[in-house]
Amino acid sequence: MEHLCRHTTLRLGGPCPRFETAPSVDALVERIEEIEREGAELFVLGGGSNLVVADEGSGGRVVVKLAMDRVAFERDGDDVLVRAEAGASWDELVARCVSEGLSGIEALSGIPGSVGATPMQNVGAYGQEVSDVITRVRVYDRAARALAWLPASACGFGYRSSDFRGKTDRIIVEVEMRLRRSPLGAPVRYAELARALSIAEGEGNEGGRAPLGLVRETILTLRRGKGMVLDDGDPESRSAGSFFTNPIVGAEVADAVDGAAGAKTPRFPASEGRVKLAAGWLIERAGFQKGQRFGRVHISSKHALALVTEDGATTRELLDAARSIQRGVRERFAVTLEPEPIFLGCSL
Ligand code: EPU
Repeated sequence: MEHLCRHTTLRLGGPCPRFETAPSVDALVERIEEIEREGAELFVLGGGSNLVVADEGSGGRVVVKLAMDRVAFERDGDDVLVRAEAGASWDELVARCVSEGLSGIEALSGIPGSVGATPMQNVGAYGQEVSDVITRVRVYDRAARALAWLPASACGFGYRSSDFRGKTDRIIVEVEMRLRRSPLGAPVRYAELARALSIAEGEGNEGGRAPLGLVRETILTLRRGKGMVLDDGDPESRSAGSFFTNPIVGAEVADAVDGAAGAKTPRFPASEGRVKLAAGWLIERAGFQKGQRFGRVHISSKHALALVTEDGATTRELLDAARSIQRGVRERFAVTLEPEPIFLGCSL
């Protein structure tokens, strides 16, 4: 019997009586069609790095792990189109693109998980988002029983979201990105990264640029400092990364937060005149501390936004911890933190 704790970076999740692996797109399509004929429920598993699974496990669902991982490069003028299958390791892909002199995803170094998961939640970090470079996404559409390439404009990308998130009607099987052939990384749009590289930060194409390899190394160092690079030697990295998304609110809500905190809350511009608040800041200002324990789960000692599991921890403890934090922030600031991970068999 497979146990899903072996497939999640939180190392949580109960038994899975029906666990299968899809080594190719064709094999995946075949498996899905069989599961549908049977009337069973499907759950598609990628890298398990943004996933919370119930202690009770997968229930009656059939869990299919994506293992197809082919990668192809196609030259297109000054650009290269990179096509990677959903089961490929995201960070191995980033490392390869950096070493081949392809610019556009170097700031997304050190992010765990698989390629197919990145459009789902429009993965982003240090001023880059996969939606900046994705040209199209290949999906298996279960209703149409067909494979199709969807242009990026049809994916509904937003901050940490897309039309695919939390759904199983269209399964992402391959992602195509347009990267620029350049020895330099894309213009830097994140203050912390610009500081670490000693270059100017900017909007759009205004930011300073640095060699690709240096950007990757710098990002890995920054992420390690926050416990955000998976590492068996770092117990603080046993997490799902950020457990909550940064709330996007109107300016009046941000002003009310300033009032309640008696301090200026960090604000970052978001679309439509709204502002993005820093969930880690709200958590600390609500009275929670880095390292604070809730049974065998604790707030990372390196970053207030990550919840870390210790040996023997359960999903129930993790959810209780997350609910306490959510409640504390809501009571203090009237802002509700939304979870970032996907849930299987449980919810917050
Ligand atoms: N902050 C605190 N305490 C903390 C951490 C952060 O007060 O313990 C405040 C600080 O004011 C800091 C601000 O939050 O300036 C922003 O912190 P940071 O730069 O670490 O980024 P973040 O907003 O907490 C987001 C992503 C990360 C991504 C980083 C870097 C979300 C939910 N998280 O975190 O992504 O790596 O930016 O770009 O958007 C992930 O999604 O799993 C993830 C790790």
